[in-house]
Amino acid sequence: MSNPQWQAVENFLNGATLPVDPALDAALAENAAAGLPPIDVSPAQGRLLNLIARLGKVSTILEIGTLGGYSTIWLARALSAGGHLLTLELEPKHAEVARENLNRAGVGDRVEIRVGMAADLLPQVGGPFDLIFIDADKPSNPIYWKEALRLSDIGTLIIVDNVVRDGAVADEASEDPGVLGVRALMEIVAKESRVEAAAIQTVGTKGYDGFLTALVVA
Ligand code: SAH
Ligand code: DHB
Ligand code: MG
Repeated sequence: MSNPQWQAVENFLNGATLPVDPALDAALAENAAAGLPPIDVSPAQGRLLNLIARLGKVSTILEIGTLGGYSTIWLARALSAGGHLLTLELEPKHAEVARENLNRAGVGDRVEIRVGMAADLLPQVGGPFDLIFIDADKPSNPIYWKEALRLSDIGTLIIVDNVVRDGAVADEASEDPGVLGVRALMEIVAKESRVEAAAIQTVGTKGYDGFLTALVVA
């Protein structure tokens, strides 16, 4: 789903809030040149991730789903001194493009990329992390959520991208594996007393989607 007005408004708002950023522009250009799908977070969502991470003074970030490292750059820039970001990516080619983009953006030294199925890599990861961004294959969201909680402490913020999927998330009859993954995640969140959460719908150049933010409180 897409709407010209959403795009016009996003362009207008971005013009007022987002300065020209050569490293981020170069990352998107390199992603396109390498044939990566244009499914990075939007510029405004990237900035919001950055602001949230700075507000939380985070020094450890876990990202699941690197792609070309666009969201990774936004998050890594927010790390407090000596901070570290670990990002997990299935596709070696995506990881290679991300590595170049991160180095060009000047945050390569703060970021470790591990390549493999996140569900296989996560059990070997030790926490806790201050912020966890889940943005990989949507059917695995329940697994990633469980691992994220294991890797959380009180005060950890867990953010999950793409929880609206053009509104399909509210369709009880959907058989789309991604939608089923998000719906299963929401059922788990509903019963999880360790978090207080909010899910926000978004529209813009990336269409109609949304993200979940959950603060670990116990
Ligand atoms: N966070 C990125 C976008 C990630 S797109 C950004 O906003 O810039 C989703 C990524 O998850 C893709 O690169 C895809 O290859 C990766 N992915 C898909 N399945 C995966 C899996 N099982 N384990 C790890 N990564 C996976
Ligand atoms: C898809 C994945 C994403 O992380 C995203 O932001 C948009 C789309 C996808 O797999 O289709
Ligand atoms: Mg996403």
